[in-house]
Parts: sequence; structure tokens; C-alpha cells
Amino acid sequence: MKTPLLTTGLNGLVGSRFALDFADSYEFDNLDLRDLTQPTDITQYEQVLGRFDNSPATHVIHLAAYTDVTGAWQQTDDTRGVAYQVNVVGTENIIKAAEATKKHVVYVSTAYVFDGEKKALYTEEDTPNPIEWYGKTKYLAEEIVKQSTTPWTILRIDMPFRSDPFEKKDTVHRIITGIQDGTLYPQFTNHFFGPTYLNDFSKVLDLVVRTQLAGLYHASSGEQWTDYEFAKLINRTLKLGGEIQKGDLEAYLVKSARPYQRNTAMSTAKLNKVLDFTPKTIDEAIAAIQI
Ligand SMILES: NC(=O)c1ccc[n+]([C@@H]2O[C@H](COP(=O)([O-])OP(=O)(O)OC[C@H]3O[C@@H](n4cnc5c(N)ncnc54)[C@H](OP(=O)(O)O)[C@@H]3O)[C@@H](O)[C@H]2O)c1
Repeated sequence: MKTPLLTTGLNGLVGSRFALDFADSYEFDNLDLRDLTQPTDITQYEQVLGRFDNSPATHVIHLAAYTDVTGAWQQTDDTRGVAYQVNVVGTENIIKAAEATKKHVVYVSTAYVFDGEKKALYTEEDTPNPIEWYGKTKYLAEEIVKQSTTPWTILRIDMPFRSDPFEKKDTVHRIITGIQDGTLYPQFTNHFFGPTYLNDFSKVLDLVVRTQLAGLYHASSGEQWTDYEFAKLINRTLKLGGEIQKGDLEAYLVKSARPYQRNTAMSTAKLNKVLDFTPKTIDEAIAAIQI
């Protein structure tokens, strides 16, 4: 029998991969603005509560977010803007409804809660210090989740990509297209990140529900890559035959008004202690990519 599971954002880049991978395990009940029969806006508390009240699910996977980082930056400090409303008010509504109906909330967050100034991998002990509005709204939402009286899990990810092409192109499929049509920008040799392979992240979401895992966890690959080395890996592994040019983040930042984190790679040592499967390395994950 399938386990009932409440979700938000199940049609997005991250959620739709989870829905695909675990279609046989869960009876998904997704709160979605575009749902034809019961459209639900997470910024509206009564709508959220109504859906929670009617659900036998014990867990809520909360993925819905305003994820356009540049768009969010243009709304900086605007608490009536869509980024704040969806990311902060929406999460507050999810938490309130989960408290009222005694459900466990799994909140998917981002490495953009950090300022990016640390050279080494970020751990769960490091203090967030967001430097732009998207990261700030996700951080404020994390704080709401952490103060909740209902069981909660926060999973931070970074630069997610999946094996299959999706309508919203992930970082790997953007690089593939850029190499193929010759439009790839020079790739920074001094910007560091920690890619997240979504086919494995789906398994982490399932593990959290199955084992009631609670608390804050970094759930990326635990590896640290530069844009340049990552693009070279994709080019080599998928035999694309392109040539990757080197770029300089510092030179780019001089001209850019929007701030960028220099490093968002995270340690996954805490999560690795409880994983019951072996995640792919980034080398293995790139080898599994379908173009
Ligand atoms: N993508 C990344 O690079 C990245 C990196 C780190 C963390 N994350 C986090 O991972 C999670 C999933 O990201 P994603 O890339 O899968 O996002 P996405 O593709 O942009 O999808 C976002 C989803 O949120 C839904 N949504 C937006 N506003 C809503 C509202 N008011 N009420 C109900 N649903 C609403 C959208 O619904 P519609 O389909 O109806 O528009 C969509 O399904 C987010 O929490 C994000 O912050 C993402």
C-alpha cells in the first residue's frame, strides 16, 4: 500500500524527480497553485489548513519556493514581494498548519543561506549569513521551521541536477546545451560549489519520511567543484567535444550589482552517518546523465 504524503512544489525541478522515483511508494497530495480541481496558494493560510485537515499524511515535503535568485534580488527588502510571500509567509503557513494537524515538516533549503566566504566545506554548525534576498528569505523560513513545535527536518542542497532533461534546465543540462551550441560563457576557476544529484536526493527525502529523521542536514554531494572543473568533467564524460574557457569570478563581481557567494560547497558528513544507500559520486552521476 502506498503511504499518503503531502507535498508542495512537486511539479518543480526537484519535486518532479522525487515524484518520478517514488511513484510506487507514495500517494502524493500536492498543494499547487495550478491544480485544476483544488488550486492551493501556500501564501493563503486557510487554503493550506483546509488541505492539511483533509489529509491522513504524517509528513509534508515542502519544496514550493520562489527560486529566481536574480528576480528575488530585485525585490530586496520588499516583504510584500512574491519572493518573501512564498518563501517566508508560505513556509510560516505550512508550519502553522502542520502544528495544528500534528504533521512532520521536511523543508528543503539552500546553501545560499551562507555568505560564501568560508574556503572549506560548510557544516551544519556554521552560522548562516545570507548576502542576497533569496538566501535571506530561505534563511528566515529556516528560522521559522526551527522554532516550530512540530517535528521538522531541514535539508540544504546546492546546484541541483537530475539525470534526465527537465523543462526548467538544471545546471548540468545548461552546460551541455552551452557546449553543444557554442554559447557557454567562460567558466569561473575561482567559484566553488557542491552539486546535488537529485536522483540521490529523492532517496534522502524518502529516508527522512521512512525513518522520521529530524534536524538540520546538508544533503548535497559533499564534494567541492569549480565551475571550470565541473564543465570540463561534463564535456569529457559525455564526449561533447567542446572547449571550456576559463573565467574569473572576481573580475565578474566588479561589474555585477548582484552579490554572489564565492563558495557554497557543504559537508555531508552528518547525513552520511544515517544514509542507508550509497550515493553516486559526482563523476558517477555525470556519467549517468541523459542528454
Ligand atoms: N533549483 C535550485 O537551484 C535550488 C537550489 C537550492 C535549493 N533549492 C530549493 O529546492 C526547492 C525546490 O526547488 P525547485 O528548483 O524544484 O523549484 P522550482 O522548479 O522553481 O519549482 C517551485 C515550485 O513551487 C511552486 N510554487 C511557487 N509558488 C507557489 C505558491 N504560492 N503556492 C503553491 N506552490 C507554489 C511552483 O508551482 P507551479 O509549478 O504551479 O508554478 C513550483 O512547483 C525550493 O525550496 C528551493 O528553494 C533549489
